Amino acid sequence: MAKLAPSILSADFANLQRDVQRILDAGADWVHVDVMDGHFVPNISIGVPVVKALRQCCDGFLDVHLMISQPEKYIDAFIKAGADLVNIHVEAEGDMAEMLQKIRAAGKMSALTIKPGTPAEEVFPYLELCDMILVMSVEPGFGGQKFMPGCFPKIRAIKAELEARGLQCEIEVDGGVNLENAPELIQAGATVLVAGSSVYGAENLEQRVADFKAL
Ligand code: DX5
Ligand code: ZN
Repeated sequence: MAKLAPSILSADFANLQRDVQRILDAGADWVHVDVMDGHFVPNISIGVPVVKALRQCCDGFLDVHLMISQPEKYIDAFIKAGADLVNIHVEAEGDMAEMLQKIRAAGKMSALTIKPGTPAEEVFPYLELCDMILVMSVEPGFGGQKFMPGCFPKIRAIKAELEARGLQCEIEVDGGVNLENAPELIQAGATVLVAGSSVYGAENLEQRVADFKAL
């Protein structure tokens, strides 16, 4: 069964504690937290203080997706704030191996993320250092975008490489995920599904989480 990580980018920020508790009570596995710096992506969202506040108000697993140009400057702060998993983009600046090792040394899960235009092979040199690879299925920056099916061959390629090398690693997919494309994503090898608008935009959020979990 795949994990479900609703993205709080589509939650009501004026009622964030309530909206996070709702998905956790409904059975969501992780809380996906989208951090944007207005530089790596053309949008600004939330940062360290919000992760800290979430850590204090809920005990869900915080999957922090850093869409920022210079992750090395902020990894320590996000870990200290309470991130359980730190996702950094392979397209960002800095020494990927060093950053991944730093995340693991702090006892947290490490993840590398690739944008739609980045070949799967870009993460292959770092697979031993990753607990998860995040394959973007939209251009990062905004929720509610249309799913890009170009992620399928990349998920399959990463899964095949992990198997060939005997590595255990989650594969997460993020962007435009819904109940229609989720079964094929799981079949391709995705083990964690991020869903923002599809969960928070649902008429019945609890039912939507249950429907994802039943896949
Ligand atoms: C996009 C973010 C996603 C986004 C997903 O840059 O990384 O996590 O919130 O939202 P939906 O599911 O609406 O595409
Ligand atoms: Zn995300």
